[in-house]
Amino acid sequence: MWLLFIFSLFIFSKGLLAKNPGFRLQITQNGINIVNTVAADLLSKNVNTMKISKQTGRDINVNYELRDIKIKKFQLGKSSFTRYTENSLRWTAEKIDLDIDGQYQYEYSRFFVKHSDKGSFTVNFSTMSFKIIIQLGTDGSGRPTVRAYQCLHTYGPIKYVFHGGKDWIFKLFAEKAIQGIRNQFQNNLCGILKDLVEKNAQRIVSNVKVRIPLGNSMMVDYRLPSIPSVSTNYLEVHLKGTVLWRNSQNEAPYSAASFPSNYDTTKMAYIAISDYLFNTMIFQAYRHNMLVFNITSTNIGCRKSMLNTTCSDKCIGKLIPQIAKSFPNSSVELHMMSTKQPVTNINGIVSVTAEGNISVYVRKLDNSRQYLFRVSAVGGSKVNPRLNDRMLYGQLARSEIQTNVTDSVIGAIDEKALQFLADDILMPTLAPMVSGLCKRGFPLPTIDSFQFLQPELKLRKNAILIETNLKYIPRRGKSTVLRFLPKEEIYQENIYS
Ligand SMILES: *[C@@H]1O[C@H](CO)[C@@H](O)[C@H](O)[C@H]1NC(C)=O
Ligand SMILES: *[C@@H]1O[C@H](CO)[C@@H](O)[C@H](O)[C@H]1NC(C)=O
Ligand SMILES: *[C@@H]1O[C@H](CO)[C@@H](O)[C@H](O)[C@H]1NC(C)=O
Ligand SMILES: *[C@@H]1O[C@H](CO)[C@@H](O)[C@H](O)[C@H]1NC(C)=O
Ligand SMILES: *[C@@H]1O[C@H](CO)[C@@H](O)[C@H](O)[C@H]1NC(C)=O
Ligand SMILES: *[C@@H]1O[C@H](CO)[C@@H](O)[C@H](O)[C@H]1NC(C)=O
Repeated sequence: MWLLFIFSLFIFSKGLLAKNPGFRLQITQNGINIVNTVAADLLSKNVNTMKISKQTGRDINVNYELRDIKIKKFQLGKSSFTRYTENSLRWTAEKIDLDIDGQYQYEYSRFFVKHSDKGSFTVNFSTMSFKIIIQLGTDGSGRPTVRAYQCLHTYGPIKYVFHGGKDWIFKLFAEKAIQGIRNQFQNNLCGILKDLVEKNAQRIVSNVKVRIPLGNSMMVDYRLPSIPSVSTNYLEVHLKGTVLWRNSQNEAPYSAASFPSNYDTTKMAYIAISDYLFNTMIFQAYRHNMLVFNITSTNIGCRKSMLNTTCSDKCIGKLIPQIAKSFPNSSVELHMMSTKQPVTNINGIVSVTAEGNISVYVRKLDNSRQYLFRVSAVGGSKVNPRLNDRMLYGQLARSEIQTNVTDSVIGAIDEKALQFLADDILMPTLAPMVSGLCKRGFPLPTIDSFQFLQPELKLRKNAILIETNLKYIPRRGKSTVLRFLPKEEIYQENIYS
């Protein structure tokens, strides 16, 4: 009984905490393989410039020194990134071959027997391997983090050749000196691996913009609410994907629908964007009175004479003779406000529906304002989403608006007058505003060093799905992306200090 109670409490509290994200990124094994290729390449570049300090020692009757030790060949057989635990990956490399050469020098002395010699040597290490665990996490600011731990390595057969000298003297120190080289190499290798993860890779993931400004007063919150997870098919990253008012941080009081399942793993990445993201933007705009505005002869440009009460050709006064008669040579004003928060709905198509009241006034010759009537309007638009360089754009495809007149103080309003208001004043004013909003685009959280390759956009229930391959773009200069770091930069902290 108690157990049941605790259990249900657990499920309940978990349900409360686990808010669906507004944005989901799934990286498949194909996508992870790109990271592997980049990482393996960087590792090879770093190893090739690795410094191995000289080995000196004394053994019974011999003083030896191995110096100018250089890496001649580093061949990283098979490298892969695979799931290790729910929140970690394992980087494994096998069949690593390493050839090293250098100069030796020894002095042998026993009783009256003395030998000294110097020359070159080569050591070939084969079938070495390493494993390192990459722990995924998040930091205090909701950015992803990567940490490396548990660097394990093994080695296989070793062959060495010393040119010149006496074999029986080499036998006295060679094994020990070579073991010293191997230990140093493996320690340095672990240092490089750790730096590749905790410096290079960390720098890339820290570079993800988790708060992106949207217009002048809003921002998109792309912080990670949870640690990225690794399943058999995907490395999955959830981002909050909600729009906030820039200086208040209050979240919209509802949550995203859960994302439709995705089982496809042919592309490198699958990105799902919930309609919740767009609805939180509308919520903030609505709540902060951004959806209230006036249409007057001063702000609708070349169509302003449409608002005249007197004209010879085409204006509102022609269609509502009452106002032409009572208020000649004046102009009409429309005060618009949303009466309900507009809603974006994604379901095969993207549509936006809105409701509002439009109060119609006349601005008289003495500049005073006189109320005329109110129009309640319900409108809907279809928007075609489009993706271009990490921005999501909309194309206004079709709009409809229905109107009713209420609270008129000038009697009945002709149907044609309403049609005129809708077709010649409202739509021409609103459409460019909506298109403008769509044209400015909606920013997506992306990483500089990875670009979308042939992305495809699909519409699912409550979500836009982007299926894409990725391309790695190494950048140089001040950009903070994964790139080959000079070894001094890598070594400074970990190895030499
Ligand atoms: C050892 O490495 C050197 C330098 O790369 C190479 O020339 C030589 O053939 C290698 N020897 C063996 C036995 O692999
Ligand atoms: C619209 O006009 C009315 C009356 O002049 C004014 O009170 C209101 O603030 C205006 N609204 C906007 C959004 O400009
Ligand atoms: C509309 O009114 C303005 C100002 O009263 C006037 O200048 C303009 O010519 C009028 N437009 C038409 C088409 O009559
Ligand atoms: C309206 O304007 C016309 C042309 O400027 C003028 O003849 C007429 O007297 C004006 N009417 C009023 C009521 O001001
Ligand atoms: C919108 O207009 C309707 C009909 O006139 C009215 O009942 C309603 O209160 C108005 N809403 C607002 C928010 O003004
Ligand atoms: C207009 O009024 C009719 C009848 O009252 C109603 O069915 C319709 O929903 C209203 N439309 C709008 C846009 O308010």
